[in-house]
Parts: sequence; structure tokens; C-alpha cells
Amino acid sequence: MNEIPILRPSPTAIRQATEQLAAGRLVVFPTETVYGLGGDATNGAAVQAIFDAKGRPAHNPLICHIAEAAQLNDIARVSDKSKALAAKFWPGPLTMVLNKSAACPVDDRATAGLDTIAVRIPAHDTALSVLSAFGRPLVAPSANTSGRVSPTQAQHVQLTDESRISMILDGGPCRIGLESTILSLTGPTPRLLRPGAITAEEIETVIGPVTECRDSADRPTAPGQLESHYAPQKPVRLAASSPNEGEAFLAFGPYDTETAAPTLNLSETGDLAEAASHLYAYLQALDAMDCDGIAVAPIPDKGIGKALNDRLTRAAAPRGRTA
Ligand code: TXA
Ligand code: MG
Repeated sequence: MNEIPILRPSPTAIRQATEQLAAGRLVVFPTETVYGLGGDATNGAAVQAIFDAKGRPAHNPLICHIAEAAQLNDIARVSDKSKALAAKFWPGPLTMVLNKSAACPVDDRATAGLDTIAVRIPAHDTALSVLSAFGRPLVAPSANTSGRVSPTQAQHVQLTDESRISMILDGGPCRIGLESTILSLTGPTPRLLRPGAITAEEIETVIGPVTECRDSADRPTAPGQLESHYAPQKPVRLAASSPNEGEAFLAFGPYDTETAAPTLNLSETGDLAEAASHLYAYLQALDAMDCDGIAVAPIPDKGIGKALNDRLTRAAAPRGRTA
């Protein structure tokens, strides 16, 4: 449990949050995907404080959050494809990686010195209220220690160094529960760097073919991908039909409880979106239980199931190989 004040997102709390952000301090806010640790993207000290708070390697760039698509022109070079995707999916869980504009005001540390920048507009009233009241872009990684499970509720926020964090705005559980889809538009063919709630197929209906990158060798520009990430403390075993002795069992879909009693079920009806919204909170709950490891049932690899399997694969990856 952290010691940071948790506030309901009242107009007063939102005003306080923007004052703290303007003073270079950090604020945790809810988005539709996961809770983000926000700081002024144009303030180098605030950006550095985010890396310090998470224990995040300096080579892993941050996502820039904006309130409206018009702000994108100040930050990045837009194209017909990025405009079409923004019109279709923003606000929403799609992050676009674009070439930085010449006058991009975002601190170089936020982009890890790259010429490219990741940007999105979150679909969450509290996030949007903070962003529009603040008026400048906010960088916001997931509000967890680097490599650990992302928080989908205020009580699960956990950072290595909380000293620069003024408050957590509590918006209840995040609707989607998995981080945004990341699409790179900097090369000749758009590339899916991280699967999320918006699928490659949905993106293809707007801009045509997308390359799906399934392993780290395909993703040199996206550190923090594959290897050990999103990991609970306990070992995770995937595609399990039943738990071994001492393991907790995280099930998916209907189960005959006499043969393989689930400890928790991501979705009893086999609904992938429901499973996504439960995944991180259930991993946190199982991590806190008296068990030796977490056995996870197979998840269908379609729709948002691809994002679920992507996060689970990294949660189960050998530890110590954080990218
Ligand atoms: O849903 C989300 O995207 C959440 C909420 C808070 O908005 N944020 C989030 O941020 O997941 P974070 O920092 O945990 O993940 C950002 C990912 C990292 O894998 C990073 O490598 C990638 O975005 N990224 C950022 N800038 C990039 C760039 N210029 N090129 C390629 N990948 C980039
Ligand atoms: Mg993260």
C-alpha cells in the first residue's frame, strides 16, 4: 500500500492537480486503460522524476497525452493516416508513434532521445479534465514500478519513489484494463508495436495493411517490450488446464469446479473484454495470496485476447530479463 493521498476527482481536486503539475510535481490519474503517472511533458525535471519514481531505464520512452487532436500538430508531423486514425479512434486506447515536429516542446528525456514520439488522447473524463485544465501535454507511463503489474485501480498504484507524487485521483476501476495499442507510423508500413483493445484488424479498416510485430526482434524501437514485464512477484505458468500442487488457478470461461477449481475466473462466460478488465487486479490479488505460483488457463488468441496473451507471455517470461 502506498502513502500517497487518494482523492475523488472533484473540480477542486482537479484544480489542485493542475497546480501541482505546473509546479513540476507528479499526479496519478485514471485512464480507460490503466492508471498513469503524469508529469509536465515540457519540464525536464518532472520527466526525470517519472523515470526515478518508476525505476524505469532511461532508454524506455514515455507516451505523451493530449486533450485534443489539434495539439498533435505542435508535437508531431501528422499525415493522412495519422489524421484518419485520430478521427476514428481518439479519444481512445490507440497510441500513435510519429516523427517529432521541429518545434516539439516535449523534453528529450521523455522520448529517450529518439526522433519519434508516442501520443494519445485518453477516453476518460478525469484524464481529459486534467489535460484540458493543464493545457500542455502530460507524459504518463503506467503508475507501477518498472517491470511490474500495471494498476487498474487507485489502491494498486505502487512506485519505487513516491516523493515527487502529490496525489492519486481515484476514478474507480479502469474500463479496459490493458494498456493502449501502440502503432508506429514512422516507416513505410504501419507497425503494431503493442497489441491492445483496438486491434490490427480495426486499424486496417481505416488505413490498410498493418504489420504485427510478435517478438522483441521485430520491435527495436520499443524497449520495454517482451522479456519480463507486467510481472507479479510469483512465477506465472501459462496455458494450464489445471493447477499443480501449491499453485493458484486463474481460469477463463466455464469450468467444472470439481476437476479444476479456479481460484479466480477472468470471465466465467468466456468474454475476452471482461477478462482484460480483470487481468491485472486478479494478478495482484493472487500475488497477495498464500500460494507458490499462478497457473493461467489458455486464452483465445483473437480480438483483445491477443493483448491478454501478449501481457501474460511477458508476465511469465524469465525474470531479470527486463528490456
Ligand atoms: O494505456 C497506456 O498507454 C498507458 C496509459 C497510462 O496511457 N500508458 C502506458 O505507458 O502504458 P508505458 O510507459 O507503461 O508504456 C509506453 C510504451 C513503452 O513500451 C515504450 O517503449 C513505448 O510505449 N514507446 C513510447 N515512445 C515510443 C517511441 N517513440 N517509439 C516506440 N515505442 C515507444
Ligand atoms: Mg507500463
